[in-house]
Parts: sequence; structure tokens; C-alpha cells
Amino acid sequence: MPQTVLRRLRTAAAATLFGATGLLPSIGAVAPAHAAPAATVHVANPFAGATGYLNPDFGAEVKAQASADGGTLGGLESQVAANSTAVWMDRIGAIAGDSAHLGLRAHLDHALTQQQGSAPVVFQVVVYDLPGRDCAAIASNGELPATAAGLNTYETQYIDPIAAVLADPKYAGIRIAAVIEPDSLPNAVTNQSKPTCATATPYYESGIEYTLNKLHAIPNVYNYLDIGHAGWLGWSTNMVPAGKEYAKVAQATTAGFASIDGFVSDTANTTPLTEPFLTNPDLAIGGQPLKSANFYQYNPVFDEYHYATAMYSTLVSNGFPSSIGMLVDTSRNGWGGPARPAALNSAPTTVDAYVAANKVDQKPFRGDWCNINGAGIGERPRSQPYGTGSPIIAFLWVKPPGESDGDYPDASHPHGDPHCDPAGTQSDGNGNTYPTDSIPGSNIPAGQWFPAQFRQLVQNAYPAFGGGSGGDTGPTVPGGLAVTGVTSTSVSLSWTASSDPAGVTGYSVYRNGAKVATVAATGYTDTGLSPATAYQYTVTALGAAGKVSAPSAAVTGTTTSSGGGGSSGCSAGYAVGNDWGSGFTAGVTVTNTGSTATKSWTVTWSWGGNQQITNSWNAVTSQSGGAVTATGQAYNGALAPNGTTSFGFQATYSGGNTAPTLSCTAS
Ligand code: BGC
Repeated sequence: MPQTVLRRLRTAAAATLFGATGLLPSIGAVAPAHAAPAATVHVANPFAGATGYLNPDFGAEVKAQASADGGTLGGLESQVAANSTAVWMDRIGAIAGDSAHLGLRAHLDHALTQQQGSAPVVFQVVVYDLPGRDCAAIASNGELPATAAGLNTYETQYIDPIAAVLADPKYAGIRIAAVIEPDSLPNAVTNQSKPTCATATPYYESGIEYTLNKLHAIPNVYNYLDIGHAGWLGWSTNMVPAGKEYAKVAQATTAGFASIDGFVSDTANTTPLTEPFLTNPDLAIGGQPLKSANFYQYNPVFDEYHYATAMYSTLVSNGFPSSIGMLVDTSRNGWGGPARPAALNSAPTTVDAYVAANKVDQKPFRGDWCNINGAGIGERPRSQPYGTGSPIIAFLWVKPPGESDGDYPDASHPHGDPHCDPAGTQSDGNGNTYPTDSIPGSNIPAGQWFPAQFRQLVQNAYPAFGGGSGGDTGPTVPGGLAVTGVTSTSVSLSWTASSDPAGVTGYSVYRNGAKVATVAATGYTDTGLSPATAYQYTVTALGAAGKVSAPSAAVTGTTTSSGGGGSSGCSAGYAVGNDWGSGFTAGVTVTNTGSTATKSWTVTWSWGGNQQITNSWNAVTSQSGGAVTATGQAYNGALAPNGTTSFGFQATYSGGNTAPTLSCTAS
């Protein structure tokens, strides 16, 4: 097919074909001049309505270990094979394959055989062979030198052959998600003080530009750039230049921003998806904010959920379209097992002790990355884990769990990486050193099977494997958690239903990290609370096969200072709807707690941070410094006793976004 007739269509027709759930609400539709064959349709979310490719090489490794281990553990291990993983083109030779590994064509031919019914197969391929690859480490340093000749080899011997295979019309019905060059641009942002990275960076930028141009020209290929993880680019001093670097690379391509479909975080890393007990980086313990703990080093982004949403906002503000999709590699960021805290421990009085007692990430240092001891498999790969409104469009398993990150130097491994040595140390750049946290007792090169690591990853999986339902991905995370009402002693919550192939049996509600109820409904009223107190809530879904979802995003409900009654009175509850790191929307529910009807009501609060309302609805708002006053409109000022109404607003902020305490007065 000549390139000029290839078009990338984002059309309403695509939504009908692959299921409307595949589209983000903010997609700008580009109408095709005429109907195009289905094979050339380029949808907004290639993972929606698709089935993930099962790599036979990976499945064989998993099954061999599961049958060798046997027993209960072997049974759990075998469930891993039901999940889609990415195929790594980690050297030129991987394109053709060898006696032990399928080549790219052979994988795609298998993908064709895996298509069932009308659902397309989505095939994830990692493009990973830049000149001077892995410039800040040795574990995965590459075969091509950071020179003009190396770049030429990359383009002609590596990218061109890959693009030629992917463009074969035979594969046009497969959705191909390309994860492009893990770690490269994050190293370009943060590691310029290392000569190897300073030298490699221009080749990284040119190589990625070339790759984006080649792959974007193939309509069924979707380009995702790697963005490191929260523990790497989370500081605003890294995130701000990262936004500019990604925009610069995109704008150098022929199609500009349109050549990139989205971004993937946590590739081959272990930063947790959520830190359910550390939800507020500005929470003061012993007079210090949590983010000042040594583990966080003033990086306010504790987990991948917040990282992906903050990066989305940063990238959009640098010119990327709002249709970009964020992906998270959850293959090894689970952190289950006995070491995982089960409830908030609020006893510690210093930030370091508080963080140590409550973090699910068990690494001693966030910069540790090689064969991490104690990590578990995370969320199963799936599309739209937070519904259609979230910038996070899928969880993937990019790193096949069980494959080593790298070996370390010893008598038989002369070129290994000291970062992978269980007896070695890592430096934080501030003169502090920490253990590498690498699993002891093995020394296995990058990409090769690591039996002891696989066992740990299965045993520490979160959500856990179990129930004998191999294909069950477990319940989706409850969405839309909101405070629907408060009194002086209660907070009412609602959320949207989760789904699970095995069925959902109910939900657990957590107050300040401790479970307070398990209910079947999608709502709950928490009673017996203290007046004028802020409580934080999250909800998990329980699947019929015994699996538990990750916690929902947290909301804060603040009880009123008095029970009202006898005269006029009102209370107000506050819930953040969507928070993208530099801005958010919130809804406020106003309830008449008095015994007479209100004529009007006024809600006031004072933000601790620099939140600034940009627009509001269903109330007249004004703001002076951090102090906000919101008054009901003519049409919603009057409330009968127990009657409720609500208003909302959008605001910008930077730094923390702690929910304020609201006051309500009625007349
Ligand atoms: C290695 C690759 C390997 C990939 C998947 C990377 O860390 O460098 O060689 O294919 O992991 O295991």
C-alpha cells in the first residue's frame, strides 16, 4: 500500500466498530472523506474491545516453572500465562528470532491465529535498541554505539526491517502498540551530568524521531513513548523539563504531536499504582510534610496513578492533544504478600517512621530498579481500569514478569551491572547510599528467566492470584467515589459499580485506611463520627472468585460542627472529581440540616495551598487569596429540611491539593 493513501482515522465509525468504550470523551473527530476499510481505522484506545496477544515463548517459560514447582504455588504460577505481555525487540537479531525465541513475523502470525470472533488482537512490541542504550546503567546497555554510524545502523538495520514487517497488509487487522525506547528520554532529562548520557542524547532524539515517523505511517500501529516512573520524573524540577523534551521530540517528527498516541509509565519498574495509606504528600507529621521523608526526598508524586495523571496534564499543557492515552506497566508493581500494610498506622510521630510504617512499596530506596526483592505482580492487563473519563486508558504488562533485569560482575559475568549486585549499593545523589535490594542468590543476565524472581512475583502479587480462575482479571477499580452528604456524625458515599468476569460480590469501605464496612450496594453511610472532622475514604471491589480490586481514588468527607435542627442550618460535603496534577474539578453537596426551609445558603472554606477557581456552576463563587465564598443561585438557594443540592467548580493548583474544611450557613 503506498503511503499516501494511509490515513489515521479517528472516527465515530471506529467507535461503533470496536465498542464505544474505546473512545475518550475528548477526542476531536476527523471525518474521513469516504468510508475506509476497517483495517486502516486508527482508534483512540487500541486496548478497548481487543484481546491481548499471548506470547507463546513467555507462556512456555511460565508453564515449565509452574509444572516444576507444582502444588499450590505451581497452580498460582500457571495463572500468569493467561495474561498478555509485550514482545521485546531488544536487538537486531530479535527481529528474525532464533531457535529459542520467535521472530517478529512469527509472533504476528501467532497473533493472527489468536483472533477470536470480531475482537481484534492487540500486540505490544517494545522497540529497544537505540545507539548508546541504557546510558545510565550497564544492565541493558546495547549493541549499537552512540555514534553517527550507530544511528545509521539503528535506522537501516533495525527500524526499517521492523517497520517493513509491521506494514505487511497481512497484519493490518492486528492493533500494534509500540512501546518506544524505555528509559531513553528520561535519561535525556535527568542524566546529562553522565558523559555517556550526554553523548547518547542527540542519537536518542534522532533515533526516536525516525522511529515515530516510520511507525506512525502504518495506520494500525500506535506509538507510546516511555516516561520513566513517579520515582524518577515526579519532582516538578524533572517533570517540567520532561514535558518540554517530549514536545520537542514530537514536534521534530513529520506529523508532529499526532505521531504519538500516548505514553507508558513504570516500564519494567516497581513503583506502586497507588499508595493507599499515603494519599496526601503535604500531610504534616511532627510538623513536616510526608513528601519530606527521606524515601520521597520532596518528590510529591508517590504512585503511578498520580504520576500518570500529572504527566498527562503536563504533556497536554506542552501541546499534546487531550486524546493522548496513558498506560501503566503493572507487571511488577503489586507489593502484596505479608509485608504489605493492611491498615493506616497513624502512631508514628516522624515523617520517616510514618512513611516506613505505611508505604506498600517495600524498597529501601525509590531509585532501586534491578530484580527487586519482595515485589509482586500488579494489576492484570486491562483496558479502561478507571472508566472512560480517565487519561489512564489501560494497564499493560510490558516487562514479562520472571525475566531478569540484569546480571552483576563476578568471576563469570565480567560485564555485569553493580546496580544488580545484591551486595552492592545505590546512591541518591545527596551522598546517601542504600542497598540495591536485588534478589540474592542468582546472577542472571537481562531478559533471561529468573525462577526465584518469578516465584516471589507470584507469591507477592497484588491483587493476589487465587480461586483457580486462571483467566479472571479480578474486579475493576470502583470509580466516581463521591461524598453525597454529611451530618455532624455521618458521611454518605456513593461510587459506580465495578465489573468482574466472575461477578462482583460487594465492596469494602475504608476510613483513614481502616476497613469500616463491606457492603453489596454502591453506596454507604458511615456513622458514629465526630463533629467537624475530616475523614478520608477509599473503596475496593470484591470479586466472586476471591480477587480484590486496587483501592479507588480517595475522597474526603468533613462532618459538620453541629447537628443542626431547631432553626436554619446547613452542611456541605466536598469531593474532588478529577485531579490531573495541575488542576482539578470538585463537587460540593449542600444539605439543609435545619428544621426550616432555607432561602439561601453560603459555603465558605480556606485552602492551604494555591488552588484558584477558574470557573464554577450552580453557585456564585468568589475567591480572595485562599478564602472562597460560594452562594446558592436563585434556583437552588431554597432547600427543604433534609433537602440537598450541589454545585461544582474547576480550579488550578501546584504542589499539594488537600481538601479544605467547609462551613455552611443558611438563612
Ligand atoms: C532487557 C531486554 C529484555 C527485556 C524483557 C530488558 O531489561 O534489557 O533484553 O528483553 O528486559 O525482559
